[in-house]
Amino acid sequence: MNAESDAIVLGAGAAGLMCAATAGARGKKMLLVDHADEPGKKILISGGGRCNFTNIHTAADRYLSGNPHFAKSALGRYTPQDFLGLVERYGIAWHEKTLGQLFCDGSARQIVDMLVQECAKAGVTMMTDHAATAIEHRDGRFVATIGGREYTAPALVLATGGPSIPKLGATGFAYDVARRFGLSIVHPRPALVPLTLGPDDTLFRSLSGVSAEVEVRWEKVRFREAALFTHRGLSGPAMLQISSYWQHRTPIGVNFLPDAAPDWLIRRKQEQPRTALKRTLASLLPARLADALTERLGLEGDLGNLSDKVLRAAEARLADWSFAPTGTEGFAKAEVTAGGISTDGLSSRTMMATRVPGLYVIGEAVDVTGWLGGYNFQWAWASGKAAGEAI
Ligand code: FDA
Repeated sequence: MNAESDAIVLGAGAAGLMCAATAGARGKKMLLVDHADEPGKKILISGGGRCNFTNIHTAADRYLSGNPHFAKSALGRYTPQDFLGLVERYGIAWHEKTLGQLFCDGSARQIVDMLVQECAKAGVTMMTDHAATAIEHRDGRFVATIGGREYTAPALVLATGGPSIPKLGATGFAYDVARRFGLSIVHPRPALVPLTLGPDDTLFRSLSGVSAEVEVRWEKVRFREAALFTHRGLSGPAMLQISSYWQHRTPIGVNFLPDAAPDWLIRRKQEQPRTALKRTLASLLPARLADALTERLGLEGDLGNLSDKVLRAAEARLADWSFAPTGTEGFAKAEVTAGGISTDGLSSRTMMATRVPGLYVIGEAVDVTGWLGGYNFQWAWASGKAAGEAI
């Protein structure tokens, strides 16, 4: 191929595919490059193979970023309904699972195929199995060394994501390039990631495999979803969500009784004084969890033998059970990376670096991180679209 194009997009993931297809459809000559052997590898494994491709409740307040307003412009101009329209034009069947999360009925492969077709229709040249190794800026043009050969263009899009799940080809390449062009990096850290516990948390460690609907809290942030106890610590949607906010050496609170009305235990005592506390708890919680919590509270025996004061204190503890994770399972297990290329140096309208004309950053590489549930793909589509329309 001719080594000159209108723009080079590095990374054929969610954001890069959308960006290349959008600019290509506007008549731009696009080169889309990925070092993996096929595009969209994270899309393929997402949502348990069904791709949770958007969330109908998308709004900027469901994203973490050094600038909470940054995502508004792109998200407002390319909405979940816009992506859904594309999905429907391709006849891909979908369903809403829970909390506004939209999934394919069939397979995530349908989403990748759709985006690859959009790129093909738009005349995008795609090169997989080609790593970008170096980027230079000469005479107003970007020169990318790709697979040992130089390619030039007046615009370069960094869509190589963040370092989460290196075994899927994730790298910190975008950060290295961004630094070279004077953009700053917000410390990248694993997000939507299981939390680990120390040897002292015997209560939780004995519950491996148990799952329960809880409300989890860190400072003022709360999520009401399922928590899963694992042999290493805590996972499940509630814990993954709070992990993105959690800071080391701070406690997390769990409400094990999110549906119980105040003084629930006292009322149960009045109604059924001969019922053991653990059986009472097991009416709302999995039996193994009810057993472990009762043991930890040190309150064996029937409700009738426990004073109202003791029951009220137990209820308060169960509604705000504090624990301090020792850490997370790291980038190897993190669904996304929080932090990344700072939004300070980027235009929220075009995703272009304000001081480096022609350099764009989109998707997970940017310091914008969504909640669990389709928000991260919606950011990838919206930021990719914004850049694709501006190139
Ligand atoms: P993405 O990581 O998708 O793409 C970057 C591309 O750049 C990759 O293809 C990589 O190979 C390539 N690359 C890296 N370095 C390179 C280099 N030097 N040269 C060339 N190419 C290079 N989100 C969601 O909304 N719903 C969901 O259901 C899920 N599920 C999910 C499951 C799992 C297991 C993970 C790990 C993640 C999710 N996510 C998710 C998150 C979602 O996958 C993520 O937010 C997007 O894929 C980010 O899209 P990007 O295009 O920015 O990066």
